[in-house]
Amino acid sequence: MFDFAPAPEATKPAIYAELCEAAEAITAGEPDAVANMANVAALLGEFVADCNWAGFYRMVEGELVLGPFCGRPACIRIPVGRGVCGAAVAEGRSQLVEDVHAFPGHIACDARSRSELVVPVLRDGVVVAVIDLDSPTPARFDAEDRAGIEALAALLADRI
Ligand code: SME
Repeated sequence: MFDFAPAPEATKPAIYAELCEAAEAITAGEPDAVANMANVAALLGEFVADCNWAGFYRMVEGELVLGPFCGRPACIRIPVGRGVCGAAVAEGRSQLVEDVHAFPGHIACDARSRSELVVPVLRDGVVVAVIDLDSPTPARFDAEDRAGIEALAALLADRI
């Protein structure tokens, strides 16, 4: 039905531009948040190399609750302020963690994870979800990854 894939040898900005284009197309006109998060989690798995976990946590009644993802089963509920995801909600901004073992309170859902990027999805200034990416490679994520996932978060704000 859909055949999205990054071009071989593409730069990170080009990969994220393609990812956002695919996410825009696949969520356009679909009001179901779970369906949209599921398809975007699948796209993250296709487009972002060297990730062992990629997906969503949603804000439900004041805490983060696991949403659609690619990867191993993960912890289900994360209080605001706990772990990298909880920090992204508490601070309302992205968390780029080069070494998860050095992050106070990091929650190890998958022992393979070495670095992590968490980007909040804001709707009308309120965090409604986070996009979480984990990599087995230390310092896998940089400012280009953050900018790319922040662009994805902005386009999903009223679609999830
Ligand atoms: N490591 C995250 C928990 C979620 S898993 O990575 C999927 C954290 O510290 O919040």
